[in-house]
Amino acid sequence: MTKPATLIYFSATDTTQKIVRAIGSGIASEYVEYNITLPKGRDKVLSFDSDDLVVFAIPVYAGRIPSFLATFLKKIRGNHTKAVFVVVYGNRNYDDALLELKDSLEDNGFIGLAAGAFIGEHSYTNQVGTGRPDTDDLNVAYEFGRVIKEKLISEPIGQETKLHVKGQFPYKEITLVEPIAPVTNEKFTQCKICASHCPVAAIDFNDCHKADSSICVRCCSCIRRCPVNAKSMDHPFILHLTERLIINCGIVRHEPELFL
Ligand SMILES: Cc1cc2nc3c(=O)[nH]c(=O)nc-3n(C[C@H](O)[C@H](O)[C@H](O)COP(=O)(O)O)c2cc1C
Repeated sequence: MTKPATLIYFSATDTTQKIVRAIGSGIASEYVEYNITLPKGRDKVLSFDSDDLVVFAIPVYAGRIPSFLATFLKKIRGNHTKAVFVVVYGNRNYDDALLELKDSLEDNGFIGLAAGAFIGEHSYTNQVGTGRPDTDDLNVAYEFGRVIKEKLISEPIGQETKLHVKGQFPYKEITLVEPIAPVTNEKFTQCKICASHCPVAAIDFNDCHKADSSICVRCCSCIRRCPVNAKSMDHPFILHLTERLIINCGIVRHEPELFL
């Protein structure tokens, strides 16, 4: 491999970023990054050649790839380009997200070389997937990168190569939820950290109290990044979901799954 690998990732609360960078480091000491978390990261049309290697990494939302990213991903073009597909989930399940990511990009001219499902602390609560990815996860991700590099050297990859991953088609149905956005308390300081990190620009820059619930994707970036804990979710749907997650997924430890 002569060109550095390209990492394309979305990461609202940074867990996907940690995993994909560990994979990138395993592949080679240098890589190119496209962080597509913020709207400005998604304003270019990306295309790749047959001598490129692209690692795509996204978090799992409701067992699928985040729906607001689907249109952007559909525009990324490969030309017999080798690709690695990675999803990061909050210790519940990744359901059909990895298959959906692979299908979507293979339709765009990418050839799947390897795939992986990793675990990150759940965006909604630090009581599920606590502290993930941890050192063990990052070591697995790094070694995964090294195996990918070996695979690139030893195996000629062609159109006929078929990567299989876990998941089912038709994909898990998306349950429509009424518009919900975080609420803001009196500790709020108008520092704008939340607005400048919102992946869908749902927070008003001039008054960060205001979040447009019709576009909020409930990624929890604003809640996690607020230095004074001024943001939270108070909607009964989210509170109930979080409670169920803690009960059902708080103790069990899932491990990364790799597909090669
Ligand atoms: C709207 C939303 C839906 C989610 N759905 C799932 C899910 O179906 N399964 C799961 O295990 N985790 C789920 N999670 C948790 C994230 O996948 C997980 O926390 C991931 O590590 C977040 O990645 P990031 O830190 O790169 O943003 C969800 C998180 C959000 C915000």
